[in-house]
Amino acid sequence: MDLAPPSPKTQASSLTVLGLESSCDETAAAILRRHATGEVEVLADLVLGQTEAHAPFGGVVPEIAARAHAEAIDGLAAAALQEAGLTLADMDGIAATSGPGLIGGVMAALMTAKGLALGAGKPLIAVNHLEGHALSPRLSQSAEFPYLLLLVSGGHTQLLIAEDVGVYHRLGSTIDDAAGEAFDKTAKVMGLGFPGGPALERCAARGDASRFDLPVPMKTKPGCDFSFAGLKTAARQIWDGLEQPGEQEKADLAASVQQAIARALAARSKRAMSLFRERYPGVIGPAPFIVAGGVAANGTVRSMLSETAAAEGFELIAPPMKWCTDNAAMIALAGLEHLARGQTDGLDAPARARWPLDASSAKLDPAIGSGRKGPKA
Ligand code: KG4
Ligand code: ZN
Repeated sequence: MDLAPPSPKTQASSLTVLGLESSCDETAAAILRRHATGEVEVLADLVLGQTEAHAPFGGVVPEIAARAHAEAIDGLAAAALQEAGLTLADMDGIAATSGPGLIGGVMAALMTAKGLALGAGKPLIAVNHLEGHALSPRLSQSAEFPYLLLLVSGGHTQLLIAEDVGVYHRLGSTIDDAAGEAFDKTAKVMGLGFPGGPALERCAARGDASRFDLPVPMKTKPGCDFSFAGLKTAARQIWDGLEQPGEQEKADLAASVQQAIARALAARSKRAMSLFRERYPGVIGPAPFIVAGGVAANGTVRSMLSETAAAEGFELIAPPMKWCTDNAAMIALAGLEHLARGQTDGLDAPARARWPLDASSAKLDPAIGSGRKGPKA
């Protein structure tokens, strides 16, 4: 990232940024304006999902995702400008997710942003998708730094402290599957449909969560890392052992899996809360605990996290669902924040499949956020 002193424009007047996102299975474009007062206004916020394209395969197919992004991204950028009643000339910068994510998909938004930035003579801001999620609560409310963040999606499961824009401390992440993957893969095994998380939650609504005894992953392990592969395997073994499972057995297994995932998330969050208190003894009163990512839509997960937060003196904040899941408003916001600090990128900014938000801490202490495959993005 190039560092330049903030121009008078970035310090004193309003800033408008076009943000583009295509790192997984949502193509998105948004336009945000930060007024001189500091108030952020969302002028356009468009998301195009690909659920139907991937449904027959029971999961996101990278090549299908990349092609769909490539087809949609420039039209969506144009539609966002039209919705905002603006042109590229009105933008102060063009921001795009440049990782981590499915590389073919990441390239769609990043290359489009480079083309637009070059053509219109505007600065490019290459945004870390995880930073978008980390800042997303600030789209809808004034979340003061520092805050604790649990990011739980199909691709990521991490606990982070957001100390300031660009300053994140990763307390832990998954060493194998993401929590959303555990929902999706279990739902696939049980034939519940795609996307698996919501399907499994619907099925679990009729079930008895105490019926099957599933391990709560990492329960006794120190630190804040997660692991969901063992739980997924245990659920599969139970499923394979059931002879012609009926609706009730299906619902009971779904409820048991959901409860084990929610318990694991709550238990690791509890540890992170005590680390947060140790690190920031000066934060008085309920500290913000933000949960973002698609899995935050799950009712059981939310209620367990909210109980844990209340017991530990934290306030659970979940951004509105549209900003909890992948969107471009959070990418435009991260872009705005960096642009305001004079941090922009050259046209050689790479697309990255992996890009840990807190690379320095993962490097210094391999136990933080590292798995068998190295630090998870
Ligand atoms: O944040 P997101 O939309 O996309 C990324 O993965 O980046 O998250 C999608 C994940 C999927 O794994 C999906 O199954 C899960 O969030 N999910 C849920 C629910 N809604 C979405 N998991 C459990 N319960 C839900 N209600
Ligand atoms: Zn995401």
